[in-house]
Amino acid sequence: MMKDCEKQSHDQSSIGRRSLRSIFIFTILLFLFLCYYIVPSELSEYWSVTVGLFLPEKFTTKMVNDSLNTVPAVTSVEPWKPPEPYYVAYPHKYNLVLNEPEKCQKENPFVLLMVPVAPSNTAARDTVRSTWGSERLVGDKTVSILFLLGLPTSEEREMLQQNLLQESEKYHDLIQSDFWDSYYNLTIKTMVMLEWLPVYCPNASYAMKIDSDMFLNVKTLVSMLLSAPKQNYMTGLVARNAVVLRNPNSKWYLPKTVYEPPFYPPYALGLGYVFSLDLPEKLIKAAQLVKPVYIEDVFLGLCMTHLGIALTNPPDGSLFNVFPVAYNRCRYSKLIATTTRSLRDQVEFWKDLQRPGPYC
Ligand SMILES: *[C@@H]1O[C@H](CO)[C@@H](O)[C@H](O)[C@H]1NC(C)=O
Ligand SMILES: *[C@@H]1O[C@H](CO)[C@@H](O)[C@H](O)[C@H]1NC(C)=O
Ligand SMILES: *[C@@H]1O[C@H](CO)[C@@H](O)[C@H](O)[C@H]1NC(C)=O
Repeated sequence: MMKDCEKQSHDQSSIGRRSLRSIFIFTILLFLFLCYYIVPSELSEYWSVTVGLFLPEKFTTKMVNDSLNTVPAVTSVEPWKPPEPYYVAYPHKYNLVLNEPEKCQKENPFVLLMVPVAPSNTAARDTVRSTWGSERLVGDKTVSILFLLGLPTSEEREMLQQNLLQESEKYHDLIQSDFWDSYYNLTIKTMVMLEWLPVYCPNASYAMKIDSDMFLNVKTLVSMLLSAPKQNYMTGLVARNAVVLRNPNSKWYLPKTVYEPPFYPPYALGLGYVFSLDLPEKLIKAAQLVKPVYIEDVFLGLCMTHLGIALTNPPDGSLFNVFPVAYNRCRYSKLIATTTRSLRDQVEFWKDLQRPGPYC
């Protein structure tokens, strides 16, 4: 009896301690939560994306539809246009200047790597060609690679274009379309990619859009895709409920006049996302109706939401990385993509991973 009493009081004090701890944790969480919503600093930029990765979804099709409905009716003479530079010249018919119309017929790829890159960035293209862009066969699966370019805008554009022509003849891996290649035109580049795929590569199973400054492990990519859904599939680093950045100094600033909702739709971060090849045609159809935003990955998220197709989380949370992962042979043998600090890192890490011997 006595013992029972003692035990009870002991239990009570431990319950007390436990609830104190809960309150403490709760307060910290509340503090973090408030920071996430209130701190308008640049720090909150990655932070909002990072936190957005773990929260349940708040974004709904209704929000996309409502934002569609807020587009003023095109009854007046001139349709309403967001102010430059937020205006996205899409939908619009663009023409290919450089193309590889027979690439897919010749190579019959399982997955195509589509790499957007600025026309002048030959160094990035050469780095990719000498590293992960050179891996063409994983088991019996072919991997093809193409670089996506717009028109050079700089002073030396004629010379640049001449060089691109030569580069294209040498490597046969450039797709160039006749829009101006600029940061605010990246959505156009993505849409040109989506239009290109079903026309010139209808038999491939998957495509991956990947930035040229990323490290890519082609083997892990193919191995994930071997057991991936064949339709309505888009994966990568999926952000959910990321807060729209309203600080005009932010790289991804979106004014309310251009995009009203406080959250982005669920979307796969543009540094590297993978999709099944039934999606391009569906996304292009949706893109005729959804108001374009210049942030290309967010725009695809809006189109996916409009289509009512959910993004797929990767099978493992460590496969796609927004922060550069410190090099470690074992870790790099298991991830699919990570940002790197420099082109030099990209080369060194890739070379080390090719060296024979156990990974872990
Ligand atoms: C949004 O619009 C699409 C296409 O117009 C429609 O199919 C869908 O039912 C709408 N969804 C909501 C929640 O209003
Ligand atoms: C796609 O496959 C079909 C049937 O196998 C073939 O006739 C066609 O040439 C292929 N197209 C491309 C672009 O590879
Ligand atoms: C985007 O490309 C279009 C078509 O070339 C051009 O009219 C527009 O000025 C470009 N926008 C920016 C911000 O570069």
